[in-house]
This record gives sequence, structure tokens and C-alpha cells, in this order.
Amino acid sequence: MENIFSHDKECILNLYNRMNLHIVKGEGSYLYDDQGNKYLDMFSGIAVNNLGHGKTEIKEAITKQLENYIHLSNFFVSEPVVNLAKLLVENSFASKVFFANSGTEANEGALKLVKKYGKSISEDKVEILSFYNSFHGRTFGGMTLTGQDKYKESFAPVIPHVKHIEFNSIEELRSQVSDKTCGFFLEIIQGEGGIREVSQAFIDELLLLSKKHNFLIVVDEIQTGLGRAGDLFAYEKYGFSPDVVTLAKSLGGGLPIGAMLVGQHLEKVLVPGDHGSTFGGNPMACAVGESILNTITKENFLKEVKAKSTYLVEKLKEMQQGYPHVIKDIRGRGFIIGIEVGQQANEIKTKAIAHGLLLNVTSGTVIRLLPALTITYLEINEFLREFKNIIRGLENCHDSVK
Ligand SMILES: Cc1ncc(COP(=O)(O)O)c(C=O)c1O
Repeated sequence: MENIFSHDKECILNLYNRMNLHIVKGEGSYLYDDQGNKYLDMFSGIAVNNLGHGKTEIKEAITKQLENYIHLSNFFVSEPVVNLAKLLVENSFASKVFFANSGTEANEGALKLVKKYGKSISEDKVEILSFYNSFHGRTFGGMTLTGQDKYKESFAPVIPHVKHIEFNSIEELRSQVSDKTCGFFLEIIQGEGGIREVSQAFIDELLLLSKKHNFLIVVDEIQTGLGRAGDLFAYEKYGFSPDVVTLAKSLGGGLPIGAMLVGQHLEKVLVPGDHGSTFGGNPMACAVGESILNTITKENFLKEVKAKSTYLVEKLKEMQQGYPHVIKDIRGRGFIIGIEVGQQANEIKTKAIAHGLLLNVTSGTVIRLLPALTITYLEINEFLREFKNIIRGLENCHDSVK
């Protein structure tokens, strides 16, 4: 496939800024191109390949399910689907699960649930809030919830009665909620928004107001969930139970799946006919999900993630002292880490390729690190060494460390 890049341009709608690499294989934390070059993959398909590439357990789960059936209508029960739902329920606040195919679809399900919940209380309880700078997907529901104009201004009008408030602003929250509010959607750590974490004070106030005005809290853990932020769910740190949580990305280990987790008090809001999906909860994806959950809930797995993350962040902070003009801030936890580098983010990303590193840029100025949760200390050291070399090669690095 010599001309894969020109064929790609010829036949695929130009919606992504493709990198100039033809990846042909993945193994562990590495990707390999058609020229035999090896790259340390620091973005894992944007938080999808949480256990790295080519994982034996994932291949085995797929092969085993392949022998039975690939797809089954949702009119039938299916063992891998039930098994994954059971694991999600056992390991979370939720009592029931709905499976979709993607993150944005999981959020669509949550939007419908929240709307129906509101309407069951009062006809005008239809207002939904979310944060500016958030990202919740590309469908009309997800895009409307997303608090960034660039994703939706060409497609207006979007869904009515959705308002946005400044991130972590308790004052704006107080002024915008009322008895007409039916739900608040939030990411615990804004991923596309530049790795910014919600404050405990905001969550505390949100809880108080949700009780006072009887609205639902929907936590979008599509990027942060399933160990990415160091806990199984990023919300755990705040000591509260959301009403609804949405998941996708790493849940299928690379196969498409989304999920909406629902608290017991909401089990009966949606009834047969209200919602559904042909492919939602694909048995192959669920079989992989089961294997992934079994791995990340093993004793010590997340402890290890936290320890490795602490090491990486400490080393990055040391590096920041040497290059404060380039590294302006380091944010995040677990393995969702943002390095604020200003306008040089894309230059760093491009230069990284020659250093054998695949980096992702979010929010224009932030290098977003989303390595496999299984990344080793040796691989972290390799990243640190090469990242430092890239920074030293920048014209304005103001190298004060020898
Ligand atoms: C927090 C969050 N919500 C929703 C989505 C949308 O997920 P998907 O691309 O699977 O529709 C994403 C994707 O990046 C995301 O990060």
C-alpha cells in the first residue's frame, strides 16, 4: 500500500488532521510504522488502549466470543453482555447499565433519561447545565452539551434549554439552577478542555443544589473512567455518588462500546420503547470489556498506576524547573496528564516523531499524556529523556540546567 496517504485523501472525507505515519503494528506501549520505526505511544488511541496494544487477554476474549457469535439482537440475552454489566454494577454506584456504541451515544442516552426524569416532575423541568470548555461528543445532544462554540457554531440551532457556566464557578451555578433544572453534565477532569479538574467545593455545592432543586448529576467518565485517572472512576475521590455515569473509550479495549450507568432510584425512568440500539452492547466488545475490568480491578493494579503517575509528575516538575519558559504548568492525575506549553504544542508534537514519541495536543496549548496504564518505569524514563531532548531542541528553551 505505497500510496495509502493519497488513497486516504482520495476516498475519505477530510475531517481529521492525519499524521504522516503508516502504523502497521502495536505491541504493549509501542506502535510500529511501515518503515520499521518504533514509537512510544503516549496517547493510546486517545484513552482507548488502556492496557496497551496486542494484549493476549484481549485477543483471547475476542477469539473465544468469535467462536460463538459476533452479534446478537438485543431481543436476546447474551452472556458477555450480562457479565460486563454485572462487573460494572458490582464495582460502582450503579444498579443498572445501558450499552451503546460510543461516548456520544452514551451521553445521548443520559440526555433522554434526564429529560424524561424532569418531565415526570413538571412539564417545564427541561433545563440542562454543563461547563464551558467541556467536551461531550459530536452528535446533536453531545455537541449541544459541549461548552465550546467551535464544535457547533456551523450546525446551529442546537438543542434548546441547555446552558453553560464557567468551570468551577459556584456563583454561576447558584445563579443558573432552579426548579426548572433537570440535569447537570460534567467531566471530572476536562480532557479536550486542557486537563482541568473540578473542585471539591464545586461538587459539594452541586450536591446541595441538586437535592434542593431535584435535578440529576451526570458524570461523563468517557475519558477519565476505568482507571485512567488512577481510581476506577474519577468521581470516587470526591466521596459522592452521581446519578448517572457515562463510559466508552477504554471499555471495549479498542472495540466500539459505550455505557450509561444508572443509580437504583432511576432504574424505571426509561421503559421499553424509549431507547435502544441495534449494535449497543456488542457481545465481542462486552467480552473484551469483561476481561479489561477483571484486570483493572485486580488488587494493586490501580495502586501501581498511581505510583507510576506520581513518579512521572514528580520528574516532569523537576524538568519544569529547568525549562519554565516552555513547561508552564503540569496538571491532571493518574495517566491523564496535561503539560501546558503554550503555542509550541504542535511544534513539540511534530518534533516528537523523530524522537520516537507519539504525543497528542489538546486545547491548542497542552501536551496531553494518555499512555497505557501498563506503561513501565523504563518506558516512562524513555519518555522523560526524549521529551527533555525535544525541549532542549526548541529555540526558546532557556536552558538553565546543565
Ligand atoms: C469526555 C468525553 N465525552 C464524550 C466523548 C465522545 O466520545 P466518542 O468519540 O466515543 O463519541 C469524548 C471523546 O473524546 C470525551 O472525551
